Amino acid sequence: MSAEDTVSDAAGAISADRFVEISYDEVIPNNVALGSDKQLQRALEGWRPKYLDWWTDMGPVGFQQSEVYLRTAVGVDPAGWAKFGYVKMPTYRWGILLAPKVEGRTIPYGRHKGEPAWQEVPGEHRALLRRLIVVQGDTEPASVEQQRLLGATAPSLYDMRNLFQVNVEEGRHLWAMVYLLVKYFGKDGREEAQALLERQSGQINNPRILGAFNDQTPDWLSFFMFTFFTDRDGKMQLAALAESGFDPLSRTCRFMLTEEAHHMFVGETGVQRTIEATCAAMVKAGVKDPNEVEAVRKLGVVDLPLLQRKLNFHASVTRDLFGSEISSNAAEVFGAGIKGRFNEANLKGDDHVLQDATYPVTRVVDGKLAAEDTPALRALNSRLLDDFIVDCQGGIDRWNKSVEKAGINFRFVQPHKGFNRRIGEFGGKRISPAGELLSEDDWSAKSGGWLPNKDDMAFIVSLMKPCHGAGKYASWIAPPRVGVNSQPGDFEYVKIA
Ligand SMILES: [Fe+2]
Ligand SMILES: [Fe+2]
Repeated sequence: MSAEDTVSDAAGAISADRFVEISYDEVIPNNVALGSDKQLQRALEGWRPKYLDWWTDMGPVGFQQSEVYLRTAVGVDPAGWAKFGYVKMPTYRWGILLAPKVEGRTIPYGRHKGEPAWQEVPGEHRALLRRLIVVQGDTEPASVEQQRLLGATAPSLYDMRNLFQVNVEEGRHLWAMVYLLVKYFGKDGREEAQALLERQSGQINNPRILGAFNDQTPDWLSFFMFTFFTDRDGKMQLAALAESGFDPLSRTCRFMLTEEAHHMFVGETGVQRTIEATCAAMVKAGVKDPNEVEAVRKLGVVDLPLLQRKLNFHASVTRDLFGSEISSNAAEVFGAGIKGRFNEANLKGDDHVLQDATYPVTRVVDGKLAAEDTPALRALNSRLLDDFIVDCQGGIDRWNKSVEKAGINFRFVQPHKGFNRRIGEFGGKRISPAGELLSEDDWSAKSGGWLPNKDDMAFIVSLMKPCHGAGKYASWIAPPRVGVNSQPGDFEYVKIA
């Protein structure tokens, strides 16, 4: 799936600057004519050494002097924007890249609907916009910090390379948000840019802003589930911000989405290859019942019920990132034209103002789950969450195809929206993956079977042995079908120094 499918094309001709090459001669590669804005250039060149210090201190542990086969953006045109080559991560060319400006773009929704998109920050929405950019920006370095220990246990050089690709691109996403802050928000923006390097994932005194970004990503299965579910939350948020009336934010997010597609690919195929290795080992050993957990684990692969529990955990934790299903704040940012719905400009069937529209929101009413018609403006988070759940299903269907093909009787399913939630309508409610409301006692008795337990996590950790030979893969994961940039199976994706 390509991010292009998910981002609406606003109507209008694409202006000549789509052809502006990215300048790699400058300290900071960019397609925003940085050289002609000396003040901005100085501010960003001042931030850059601090960013590099952060990368050294908080980025991947080890492998910083290794040559990694990475892609670097060389254009913003969806076709052929990347070049591949060996790079030492600290010398990666992090740059500022915006999707082409669409001439005549108008704001597609809210009370400013039909007005020309803003090229500068409108004063009345300044605080709201800054907050949204900071929250988005904060997730980017956070995930690098969460994943920093994984290189040492990579199940192959191919996977190690994919991890580092995701990491350098999350670093670039931080650059993208910092560009907006520094260029458009003056002194406040420069302070926020600094603070983005100071908060730290999991730190008690100065943690990252959103909950899920303060948990460690302790193992590779967690990494794949994280990139499948949590990077997809990133995709949904970026897609909604790509609809922003603030045009520089829209253009920034549109290019970020092309990178995000790769992160979800890493997650989806990572889980899929784990499933393939499990199914192949089961078939070979003649284990037919996926619930024969001990027999499966003895084969050095991850049992399918454990993968389902990991799915339940990551799906539910990520759903909390969408915030309260019913939210007046979401109504405000939509009304203001700052953040749209998923695919807003292409949505048919309503007026994009939503003054009188309703949307069904599932809630707990009188001890039962019920879909209640709610003013659509206040239900925007709920709607984006529903769109997210639909978006997840495609990958899960492909996982199930792999299981089916192996002739094993097992199906992965998404847990009910209310399962294991801390935030919003279901926060603190006890709801089973099948969607039954439970008593506290029932929950205590059963939830151990729905979420990864201590034994599960210890078993996963026991599998996390490095496999760093070219073309070699750990027992629990199948090789990919195609190499990166069509490289052969024994390609040395990381030259470990
Ligand atoms: Fe990102
Ligand atoms: Fe990402």
